[in-house]
Amino acid sequence: MGFNLSKLALYFSLLVCITTSGVSGLVKRDAPYEQVNDHPTFSHQKTDKDEPDKYFHESTFSEHYDGRFAEAPLIYEDRRSHLTALLHTYISAMQDMGAETWLMHGTLLGWYWNRAILPWDSDLDVMITERSLHHLATFHNMSIHHFSLPSPPTEPRLKRDYLLEINPHYKNSSVESVNKIDARWIDIETGLFIDITTLRRNATAHSLGEVDEMMVKDKHHYVYDDIFPLRVSSFEGAAVNVPFAYAEILVEEYGETALSEVHFENHRFDVERGEWRALRYAELVRFQRQGALLGGSFWGRKLDSESLFPD
Ligand SMILES: *[C@@H]1O[C@H](CO)[C@@H](O)[C@H](O)[C@H]1NC(C)=O
Ligand SMILES: *[C@@H]1O[C@H](CO)[C@@H](O)[C@H](O)[C@H]1NC(C)=O
Ligand SMILES: *[C@@H]1O[C@H](CO)[C@@H](O)[C@H](O)[C@H]1NC(C)=O
Repeated sequence: MGFNLSKLALYFSLLVCITTSGVSGLVKRDAPYEQVNDHPTFSHQKTDKDEPDKYFHESTFSEHYDGRFAEAPLIYEDRRSHLTALLHTYISAMQDMGAETWLMHGTLLGWYWNRAILPWDSDLDVMITERSLHHLATFHNMSIHHFSLPSPPTEPRLKRDYLLEINPHYKNSSVESVNKIDARWIDIETGLFIDITTLRRNATAHSLGEVDEMMVKDKHHYVYDDIFPLRVSSFEGAAVNVPFAYAEILVEEYGETALSEVHFENHRFDVERGEWRALRYAELVRFQRQGALLGGSFWGRKLDSESLFPD
């Protein structure tokens, strides 16, 4: 017993060796997930009886959290730093594992505006190549990655763990709604995650001679030249890749106004400072009366312009 215990302790001390050189320092450990999970595991997973084959389950309280690792959503002020760390660690780990990845969807839109996460977003979206997906599924499923995040000089560095989980349906390229997310990079402290989808060759089109037709299981389709060659840029201070034809991709997905409309989701883009700023209630009502497209509510509260600006 004592022998086994000390062996176990040695095993763990080897596994739990954390580097202190910032997010670029990464130590992988290859042990079954059950054995290394020393975090509380909540059971706030939403299981839908209509979708018995769905692999990834979101939480009962929000579709942007993994219900195994969180009990409640983070508040707006706290969320941003966790998402930034999620992105930094993901980029670093993918580089370390040799996976090719780039920003997509709302994350790409944030990059477009000011190279930063849109402040109202609670999730991040990236894409990887088919080859990278197969590599990750073969060698890195359920791997836990340790990071020691930068913190103010007077405080100890933050130690955080992230889980890479691959959907077992990843080999099935048919367009389907329940397993369109091929993999997730999950912050096992907050439950926040990055959705990873895969750019695949469209086999049907390929057999018809349309060799540059690509597809994603979420029904998006692209041609090879929309994505490649990837452009190297920065996002949240990290070096990232973005698709070659990013503007066309964003317009196709969100419409022309997404690249020019400065009011969105109770925020306004401050052109001078180059950043999105959360509007105060009175500002929101004022901008809306001037015709800005802001929707009818303020963080869930109905806009009542009459009480603020009686005619
Ligand atoms: C990854 O591991 C989990 C947990 O063991 C398993 O349910 C899942 O099927 C695995 N995914 C792949 C692609 O093998
Ligand atoms: C692939 O997914 C589709 C849609 O969910 C399903 O109908 C089909 O049976 C799956 N194919 C395999 C080989 O599992
Ligand atoms: C694949 O290509 C075929 C033929 O061009 C097309 O009909 C189909 O919609 C494409 N599939 C996807 C998922 O884009």
